[in-house]
Amino acid sequence: MKRKRSILTLIFFLFIFSFHAQQWKAPETVNQLKNPYAGDQNQLARGMKIFKNMCVACHGIDGKGDPLMLKTLNPPPADLTSEKVQNQTDGALFWKITTGRGAMAGYENILSEKERWALVQYIRSFNKNNTPVKYRKPVVTVPKASTKHIQIFPFDKAVNLNTTTLIPAKQWSFIIQHRFGAIKADEGIWRNFLGLDLASNIRVAAVFKIGKNLQAEIGRTRYGKFYDLGLKYKIVEQNELVPLDWVVYENVAISTEKAPVIPEGTTFENGEPFTYTFAHRLSYDTQLLLARKFNRFISAQTGFELIWRNLAPPGEANFTPAIPFIIRLKTGFMSAVSIEYSFVFRKRTRPWALAYEIASSGKHVFQITLSNSDRILPQNLYTHNSFRPGKEGLSLGFNLIRFF
Ligand code: HEC
Repeated sequence: MKRKRSILTLIFFLFIFSFHAQQWKAPETVNQLKNPYAGDQNQLARGMKIFKNMCVACHGIDGKGDPLMLKTLNPPPADLTSEKVQNQTDGALFWKITTGRGAMAGYENILSEKERWALVQYIRSFNKNNTPVKYRKPVVTVPKASTKHIQIFPFDKAVNLNTTTLIPAKQWSFIIQHRFGAIKADEGIWRNFLGLDLASNIRVAAVFKIGKNLQAEIGRTRYGKFYDLGLKYKIVEQNELVPLDWVVYENVAISTEKAPVIPEGTTFENGEPFTYTFAHRLSYDTQLLLARKFNRFISAQTGFELIWRNLAPPGEANFTPAIPFIIRLKTGFMSAVSIEYSFVFRKRTRPWALAYEIASSGKHVFQITLSNSDRILPQNLYTHNSFRPGKEGLSLGFNLIRFF
């Protein structure tokens, strides 16, 4: 009895398989049907939308069949890009979508006539020529993640600090960073005309692209009479697959201030007699920067920075480590706010700066700045006490950047 039943089951399955193995042929009469919406401009887009919602689960995004469904369904979902399908008339395809067979449901009561015709038109797009084909080439492909570079910051500097951005190829840029003297919100604020009357610091610099991922910078700063030379190298660029920019930067600055007058008998900390040499004028700034653009409005950066001064005042170390942070918020089509803050180890200084950027175009940028220091170059900014808002006040300033 048991055996008999299993033979019956086998016959039953053979029957099912033989039914499914049969060609699915539309009746002759439906070949006469013409797509009444053929001229409709939106037809293809509509068809694509429905296809993506209702058909890809079995037919795959490219119409060739979803890999899992190809394995599990019998018969498998038809390859809509194949000659076998593309050589059928519009009428036949419309009829098959309407009536269905086996796992493929009939869509008569699910989709309107117009929507079913839209699907026919979309299935035709798997065949580029829109005619019965000998050779087919799917037109719809799964979109690949773009490896196009995402520019995180529009230019080389946030306020005082470096960003991970390199200037565009074949261009150079000129930058003026100007910081006025500290002002407090008291009567002096107008007497000193917002600090413009006070002694002020200024750095002018030129930035040159010298390779695809490399740029050089030459600057001159008023306070300390620094000349500085910087090199910025981009190791990795953010794109849709890579989440961050990675940049290394090295800057060496030479102070050309007159040699300080050293009292007779001054010694180094180790007791050796002090003599002022050229090497003492040098200071270095090494940076490793990581940045990310989160969306159209928000970009952020952090990293690690190490300042080395060949000569440090008594009681201070030659090196000063710091962790810089930058956040840039796009506030409008032409405007943005940049905020920077550095956590400096071993010093009573937490330099921060705000910049409001107005009317930047591809060629120039103008920023109004407010900061708790009038120093600009990190070698100087991080080793110099910042202003205390209640005591010295804050410093206004501006940045002007121009591309050539
Ligand atoms: C549940 C899986 C499944 C879904 C969902 C599905 N199909 Fe199918 N489709 C199939 C299978 C299986 C076949 C083969 C049927 C056969 O030969 O018996 C098929 C066959 C077809 C055919 C006929 C191809 C031929 O061989 O002539 C067309 C046209 C088609 N599908 C279009 C669509 C469209 C358009 C949609 C979305 C509205 C859709 N299918 C949704 C599984 C599916």
